[in-house]
Amino acid sequence: MAGGTVERLRSLVVSNSGLKPLLKAIGNARCQAWDLIHGADTCGDVPLATLDFQSHNKAAGLEYQSHHPKIIRAGLAALEIRPENFTFIDFGCGKGRVLLVASEFPFRRIVGLEFAPSLAETARRNLKSYRGRGQKCTAIEVITVDATEYELTPEPQVLYFYSPFARSVLDQIMQNIEDSLQRSPRELLVLFSGVLKMRDHAFGSCAQYELLQRGRYFDIYRHRSS
Ligand SMILES: C[S@@+](CC[C@H](N)C(=O)[O-])C[C@H]1O[C@@H](n2cnc3c(N)ncnc32)[C@H](O)[C@@H]1O
Repeated sequence: MAGGTVERLRSLVVSNSGLKPLLKAIGNARCQAWDLIHGADTCGDVPLATLDFQSHNKAAGLEYQSHHPKIIRAGLAALEIRPENFTFIDFGCGKGRVLLVASEFPFRRIVGLEFAPSLAETARRNLKSYRGRGQKCTAIEVITVDATEYELTPEPQVLYFYSPFARSVLDQIMQNIEDSLQRSPRELLVLFSGVLKMRDHAFGSCAQYELLQRGRYFDIYRHRSS
């Protein structure tokens, strides 16, 4: 379905909440179609409570869901960087749709961090089965790890977050980033998606980060030490 039609439907929904289920059904159909064409399994909302794994951060984690690939691609294109100079890291990669779309860009490496083992396994399967056009990065790995325990490597990075967890968890990750940059100063960008309030309370409220762009779906920040 053309993007303009979806946008018109979306504004209709604002004035008529009864249309919400219809819009959701259209979104799901578009998502299923993308998966089918690309040999992937990335659709659906998966509440973490339905998954059998233990983590002290499970209750602070938000359910798996993903943006439509077009939205992810637009966010990545808006970075205006030379991707070959950067490693891309998705904090909470779920089924890995973002990793697949990011591979259309010539990043140095792409890393997905996911603490739910079944989602990480699905992401790994997707990397193998993906039939994407023009992959420009094939150095992609999925690590089953709590994002707070991942040690950043000393290289220029784009860090991607899509509503993955509560502020308490993000605080630990932001501290890890600060520690890593202290040890190894480098260029670091953040692509953050979530409702505006969440963005404002996350990197938007942190003096170390400069807001470069605010879009409908994404904020882009640069660490001021970069
Ligand atoms: C909203 S989904 C986003 C998925 C993916 N980034 C995307 O945009 O397609 C949030 C993901 O973060 C994961 N997550 C939540 N807390 C986490 C944590 N502490 N460590 C690693 N992953 C986490 C969830 O399991 C879920 O898959």
